[in-house]
Amino acid sequence: MSHIGSYESRLPNFNWAISEEELGYTPGGKINIGWYCTDRICEMGKAQKKALIWEDYQGNTKTYTFDDLRVYSNKVAQFMLKTGSQPGQRICLFMDRIPELYISFLGVLKMGGIVQPLFSAFRDESLFTRLNNAGTTAIITQKKLLPVVRKIRDQLPELKYVIVPDAGDAALREGEIPFVMEEGPRVERFDVYPSTAETPSVLHYTSGTTGQPKGAQHVHYSLIAQYLTTKWVLDLREDDIYWCNADPGWVTGTSYGIIGPWSNGVTQFVLDSGFNAERWYSVMAKHRVTVWYSAPTAIRLLMKEGIELVRKHDLSSLRHLASVGEPLNAEAVIWSQEAFGKPFHDTYWQTETGCIVVSNYPGMPVKPGSMGKPFPGITAAVLDVKTHEPITVPGKVGLIALKPGWPSMIRGYWNNAKGYANKFRNGWYLTGDRSSIDKEGYFWFVGRDDDVINTGGHLVGPFEIESALLEHPAVAESAAVAKPDRVNMEVVKAFIALKPGFEPSDDLDLEIMNFIRKKLSPLAMPQEIEFVKSLPKTRSGKIMRRVLRAQEFGEPIGDISTLEND
Ligand code: WTA
Repeated sequence: MSHIGSYESRLPNFNWAISEEELGYTPGGKINIGWYCTDRICEMGKAQKKALIWEDYQGNTKTYTFDDLRVYSNKVAQFMLKTGSQPGQRICLFMDRIPELYISFLGVLKMGGIVQPLFSAFRDESLFTRLNNAGTTAIITQKKLLPVVRKIRDQLPELKYVIVPDAGDAALREGEIPFVMEEGPRVERFDVYPSTAETPSVLHYTSGTTGQPKGAQHVHYSLIAQYLTTKWVLDLREDDIYWCNADPGWVTGTSYGIIGPWSNGVTQFVLDSGFNAERWYSVMAKHRVTVWYSAPTAIRLLMKEGIELVRKHDLSSLRHLASVGEPLNAEAVIWSQEAFGKPFHDTYWQTETGCIVVSNYPGMPVKPGSMGKPFPGITAAVLDVKTHEPITVPGKVGLIALKPGWPSMIRGYWNNAKGYANKFRNGWYLTGDRSSIDKEGYFWFVGRDDDVINTGGHLVGPFEIESALLEHPAVAESAAVAKPDRVNMEVVKAFIALKPGFEPSDDLDLEIMNFIRKKLSPLAMPQEIEFVKSLPKTRSGKIMRRVLRAQEFGEPIGDISTLEND
């Protein structure tokens, strides 16, 4: 029997107090995610239970018990305070998926810092934008990433400490401080910062249509939703080996790659390596993974490699499969049924929601292609595009909206009250996505309602790419839009008008692509560039990305009269 039992039976009288009580949290009392994921689990008698089984790209493995997590996160917390960091400061984690990343996440929370996890593939300009916006005071990074940090250090006067856990014998510069997590005395005791429900915890940067990425600001109370959704949706149990494919630079990798599993006292596996079908099946067989939280792009890549490869591995340990980040097409669900004997359960949510809000639950019939139904305690609707009133007609497409107030909803965007206020209409929080709801209450995703590009489950903002493109000497004007892609669902395509004196060429094409890859990240790099004489614009001069996007998707351009009058 799954934890949720039957979905329907959980709906009446649902109250988040269920989660508060299970966690032993008293409203008004202390709540610290770092403590909940380590000390509390140890106090429950699971100190010697494995918390983390880690493997790198070469196949080296390390394991950590919950007691290891506890003392090492104490050590990080103590070290950060000793070197001068203070509660409330933004402390960035900029690392590959090494154990120090996971443990520092908990350590920073334990000392009251606000964790700012950033994807290690970001290059200097992407990193700068986010550190500058957050006024970040410390960054924990790796030796190999120091060149990226050094490039922007002078422009970040607030960035005082650069902590390097794997410094070895590297020549460090002023303000770069080595930190060895696993050597020296154990830090058995640490006075965990007495955070309460609304104390800020995690700051995740996420892209929108306009402006630079926004800092989605979470609080410690988010745990109440992350704990229970992990338990009921992912159905984690005492003897599970759980694997979440997501990197903690993105919200899935923290909500369900750190907080959810560890606050439930569950063992998780982490692979610090990129995608490789053969390797993925091997590690799942080797570590006897039971619950697997993946993403549609990965599933599509696995599909391409064929079912024969699946059959070569003993994957009988798998009990439950779930997916997030992009639309999970019906074929992928049907394929997984055939390949693994069980369907992937689609889950839908966002950085801003902090937890899964619409999902397919264990035991509930899966309709392949549907995202499922709202989590108990979450009121979700689709709103009419014009009136912002809930649509009651089954199958009619509208804007996915949520009634504010669930525990893990962000409390704002960092330094951007206007951007946050703009997400609400008629008392609803607008997700920026469109879907319909069928007669039985299942949600069917249609698409985004803005210009954000979702490439392989990672959101990239057109504005950030266009701003970087304009820094190239040949670029006069540009527009970055989504282009459909068989595997990644969408990739970035850039339309560029060149400055006088520059001619389109294959070399220039490549040069511009590399320019973006090196400034921002491989994700933001346009996969295709089209040189144009000029870009479609509104009368007020705003570039009409929507027209270009519609062209790429072969969709009707629709009514652009409003845009033209914009
Ligand atoms: C998209 C990731 C279709 C959607 C947790 C959303 C999805 C954005 C699904 C959030 C899904 C996420 N089906 N689309 N099951 N899950 N999305 O903030 O557009 O990185 O708004 O959070 O991804 O991406 P974010």
